[in-house]
Formats: sequence, C-alpha cells, structure tokens
Amino acid sequence: MNIKPWGGRFKKNIDKDAEAFSASISIDKELALYDIKGSLAHIDMLNKQGILSNDEYITIKDGLLKIESEIKTGSFVYTEADEDIHMAIEKRLISLVGPVGGKIHTARSRNDQVVLDVKLYLKDKIQDIKQLLLTLLETIIDKAEKHIDIVMPGYTHLQIAQPILFAHYMLAYFEMFKRDYLRLLDAFKRLNYCPLGAAALAGTNFDINRFYVSNKLDFIAPTTNSIDTVSDRDFIIELLSIISISMMHLSRLSEDLIIYSTSEFSLITLSDEFTTGSSIMPQKKNPDMLELTRGKCGIIYGHLMSLLTLLKGLPLSYNRDLQEDKKPLFESIKDYMNSLVIIRKIVDTMELNKAKMETSAKSNFSTATDLADYLTFKGLPFRESHRVVGAIVLYASENKKELTDITLDEYKKFSELIDSDVYEYIDVYNSVNRKKAYGGTSKKSVEEQIKAGRIFLKENEE
Ligand code: ARG
Repeated sequence: MNIKPWGGRFKKNIDKDAEAFSASISIDKELALYDIKGSLAHIDMLNKQGILSNDEYITIKDGLLKIESEIKTGSFVYTEADEDIHMAIEKRLISLVGPVGGKIHTARSRNDQVVLDVKLYLKDKIQDIKQLLLTLLETIIDKAEKHIDIVMPGYTHLQIAQPILFAHYMLAYFEMFKRDYLRLLDAFKRLNYCPLGAAALAGTNFDINRFYVSNKLDFIAPTTNSIDTVSDRDFIIELLSIISISMMHLSRLSEDLIIYSTSEFSLITLSDEFTTGSSIMPQKKNPDMLELTRGKCGIIYGHLMSLLTLLKGLPLSYNRDLQEDKKPLFESIKDYMNSLVIIRKIVDTMELNKAKMETSAKSNFSTATDLADYLTFKGLPFRESHRVVGAIVLYASENKKELTDITLDEYKKFSELIDSDVYEYIDVYNSVNRKKAYGGTSKKSVEEQIKAGRIFLKENEE
C-alpha cells in the first residue's frame, strides 16, 4: 500500500528520485505561517457552517497553534517525503491530534490552498515593500532639500548638456519610485481576492461560506470563478513586472552613481561603508553594492521571463508546472527588498563634491543653449541662433576657451545682437533659475517638487 496521504489508489510507492524531483518543501516552507493562518480561517468557517463540530474545531485549532509555535521556534521538522508545506503541516496535525486532523482538508484542495498562501505572503510583502519605497522616497527628498543650491552638469548621451540643480536630478528618481509605489497599490487591488473555496477547480459540495473566509483574511471578496482561481498566476507576473521596473530604476540610479563616483567624473563620493577594496590593488575603492544591484536587476528580469514562460500555453486549470512559480517569486522579492535597503543607505550617505559639480556644470559650453535663447529673445529666429552659437562654440573650442572667456569684441564678430548682458545670461546659476516653467530645474520649481513630494509622503504614511 502506498504511504502517501493521496496514496489510496496506488499499488506502488513513489520512486525515490521522483519524490525528490517533485518535492517543493525546501522552497515553499517560506509559506508555513501563511498556511497556518489560512487553515485557521478555514476551520473557523467550517465550524460556523456546522461542517466541523465545536470539539473538532477546538482540537484542530489547538493543533494548528501548536504547529505555529513549532514553526516560529524552529522545531518544526521539514522532510522531503512530505512533498510540500501543506502536506507537512497536515501530517503533523494528524500526528498531534489524531485522525480528526484530517478533517481540515474538507472543502478545499491544495490547488486553492497554495494560491491562498502565496496571496497572504504577498499581501504582507507588499506592505513591507511599500514601506521601503516610502523611506527611499523620503531619503531622496531629504537629500534634494539639503543640497538645494548645488548645480551639476545635466547629461544627455552622457555628454554634458545643460546645467541643472542636483536636487532636480535627485527628484527625477522620486518620480520613478513614486510610480513604482502607485503601481504596487494598483496591483494590490487586483490581487486582493480570496481563492479559498475554489477547491481543486470546480468548487465544493460543502455548504461553505467563502465571504466569511475572505472577510476574515482581509480580502475584498472571494474570487469569482473557481477554474480561474486555481490556474491564475497573473498577480505574481504583475508583481514581478512591477519589481522589474522598479529594479530597472534602482539599476539606473546605481549606474549613475557608479559613473559619478569615478575619479574621471568625481561628482560624488560613496561612503566607505558601501564600497569594497581589491584583493590585489591596494588603492581600489569599488562600488560593489551598486554593481550588485545592477546585476540583480538582470536576474529579476529573468525571473519575470521564467514566470511568463511557465504560464504560456499552460492548459486550464491547475498543472504541477505552477509549483515552479515560488522560487523566482521569493528570490525576486528578497533581492528587490535588499536592493531597496542598500540603495537608500547609499543615497543617504554619499557626499557631493560641490566644487567639482560646479566646475563640470560650467564646462563644455553647457550654457550654449542659453546663448541661443538669448539671441532668440533679441529677435533672431531660433534656427539662426542655433547656427550662430554653433560657430561660436567651434571658435571657442579651437581657441581653448569657455563661453565665459570670450570677449565682447569676439562675440560681436558673430552677432551684433550680443551685448555685455550676455555674461550674466550664460552664468550657470542664472541659466538654472530661468527654467521656471512647471517641472523645470529652477530652484523655485524644485522647491515646488519637494513640497508636492512631501505631501505625497504624508498622504501615504500608514
Ligand atoms: N506544491 C503544490 C504547488 O505549489 C501544491 C499544489 C499541489 N496540487 C496538486 N494537485 N498536486 O503548486
């Protein structure tokens, strides 16, 4: 006779390799406490519906609470032969309270149970991630506000383009992570439906109350269609998409900071705490945490692709393939949360090399566009102004000068419209502070962004 809980119809036991091949307990033990939580709600409902007697309910509940404390204290034994965490807990329950423990699986299947566990896990993790994002957003705003007057070069094509405020640069990331936060809120709404009661795929013969369980576990409502319920993993894919996008933001920030901290750029200095040395080159200070964040981003994209591929062409409803969803999910969540923690600390502790930022912001004809606008304000069509300034830049670079080094006489040779007020016009601080239109880099506009950002944080504080 087959010794498995599902072994009734089998003559032979499962092959040892097959058993090891199909076991998921080493991974899904992460869900242990959520499995207990779901089961507690389930038996409560079974009792309310008269499916479990009061005595049975109390016995099973006590058993589950005992198992819960075993899990928490680390004494619970996870064995591969138990296949997955759901079976392991059920087996332990029966060994603690006797055959009545087997009643826990009335009106449910592992197919709806596993979806419930993952959803409960994600509901928790999403709260944690939201908190981490809010803290990161706050650090970004604090950093921006603290250095509100510092100018730096703004880049396009990684070439110096126009002077900007460092705060404006920093707040670009505020917008990115704010969108991630909002995406998370939105995905949460779709995830927040309770799967329990879908059973294997068709629903159940028992008179259960799915709304009661849903309510007890803080879901909006039960899921609508039992077939969809056991085969749906959209909520995982959606979450991994959001995490991938957010990791992409962390990765871009990492790349910026890696570049800005090189000796060639020297715009920022990373704190020693978040850099490492070389085993051979004594002088090295490497931005490994930023590089690892960039690297983990790639791994997480891979996890998203795994999940999409796992679901592609999978016939309805539940198939064992779906068991493979957990590893990529858990790893993505762990790496993403760790990256959020590390990047926040790096932003918080990095130092700005104000002098170098200012020199760079003034270099490479960074206010050439301002000069063109100056001519345009004086009546020259912009296209003409662009050509005149192009010629000035060519002249300046051939003569190793910056725009501020060119004398008025020299300027006059290019255009009679240029006057002595030009020097004030092409000053980097004036350049920045003229960008007053909504969303620009002027101090006024940046202060507005900070104000709006703080309001956002306040509105979203728990
Ligand atoms: N360990 C399984 C999973 O994670 C649980 C569901 C198993 N269902 C089944 N019919 N074998 O998907």
